[in-house]
Amino acid sequence: MSSLVDKYPRVSDMVDIAKRRMPHFASEYLFAGTGYDEALENNRKVFNKIYLVPNYLKGTVNPNLKTKLFGQEYDAPFGMAPVGMTSLMWPGAEVALSKMSVKNNIPFSLSTVACTSVEEVGKHLNGTGWFQLYPPADKAIRNDLLKRAKNSGFKTLIITADIPASSRRERLRMAGVSVPPKNNIRTFFQAAICPMWSINTLINGIPAFGTMDQYSDGNWHGNAKSKAGFAGSQMQRYLDWDYLKEVRDIWKGPIILKGLMHLDDAIKAAKVVDAIYLSNHGGRQIDIAPSPLQILPEVRKKLGLKFPIIIDSGFYSGQDICKGLMLGADFIMTGRPFIIGIAALGHKGANHVHDILKDELSNVMEQICAKNIKELKSQKVVLEDSFNLKNFNLK
Ligand SMILES: Cc1cc2nc3c(=O)[nH]c(=O)nc-3n(C[C@H](O)[C@H](O)[C@H](O)COP(=O)(O)O)c2cc1C
Repeated sequence: MSSLVDKYPRVSDMVDIAKRRMPHFASEYLFAGTGYDEALENNRKVFNKIYLVPNYLKGTVNPNLKTKLFGQEYDAPFGMAPVGMTSLMWPGAEVALSKMSVKNNIPFSLSTVACTSVEEVGKHLNGTGWFQLYPPADKAIRNDLLKRAKNSGFKTLIITADIPASSRRERLRMAGVSVPPKNNIRTFFQAAICPMWSINTLINGIPAFGTMDQYSDGNWHGNAKSKAGFAGSQMQRYLDWDYLKEVRDIWKGPIILKGLMHLDDAIKAAKVVDAIYLSNHGGRQIDIAPSPLQILPEVRKKLGLKFPIIIDSGFYSGQDICKGLMLGADFIMTGRPFIIGIAALGHKGANHVHDILKDELSNVMEQICAKNIKELKSQKVVLEDSFNLKNFNLK
């Protein structure tokens, strides 16, 4: 690891500098939850109720973090979650993150509503890319998106299930977040006091919806009021089990269903898709949702040890990743941390975040003498009493 590690040894050490370098609207877009930010805060708090009980006297180990998913070997059991409007938060972020993922052999997920197009990002990936689909109501658009993702080299598809409606996202409203950024004095002032962001935006171009914009040119929906409005209307959000099966028939590679929180959905999904992805969208959708970590042990128990389970929401460190793995996840995704790194340190920040997460995870494994992820998962975990959710029903 570079000397950056002495200055910013943890992801959390980069949060303040990231906030200072981003215009307020961009930083609110990244950091906000929804409602009163209760789900967002709980996503972090819940980690404090999980402990690892070490088992010693196993000699010296050199931990191997390699993890297989869908037959592909990754160098670590974590990757970058899909994050929309990434280049609004830091110019050129999608391409920088793609390069980071290739360099480190971890997956990068490209959002339907990213700023850089699927074709452009695809050029920088070599099979590590996962394309995330917000299921469009218009099936012609859906099929076209799937075709474009496949032609751009994406082999794995994530379908996001947890946006049946927009969330209120009060902090985003107050900050005036939009794509492209609003052309007004407030935006101008916020950008002017963040010179690195502004210069890089001039170099990379004003953020747009790189993949979705072409559908608003009049051929599909000429009545869309604005590009942002159009992209928004299309990511709504049509998903039911029949729709999912249709996508299953079209997409030949692995499909991951993202955003599940309910055991029944997980059981049903396991019959249709190749992996489930537990997530509360980083606390951005339902403010009264639990953390997916609180659901994970029950889902793992029900689905058995083999069915792939991916999880995100609140994972900021190798220790957090370790806890997710020990509670039954096969793969951990993280959204905000990589963007925090880029915003704080420029493009090298994405790599630094990767290095921190990997080093922290490796260190815990070495401390407890776990040679590989399988051994790590067999370690004893202790949960505080208040961790488990108990069902309650008025009926
Ligand atoms: C700024 C931002 C934009 C996001 N955009 C998308 C998106 O376009 N598609 C999607 O499936 N999830 C999206 N998510 C949710 C992430 O994929 C992921 O579930 C979440 O960030 C995990 O929480 P974490 O940020 O605490 O790691 C977004 C999250 C953030 C923070």
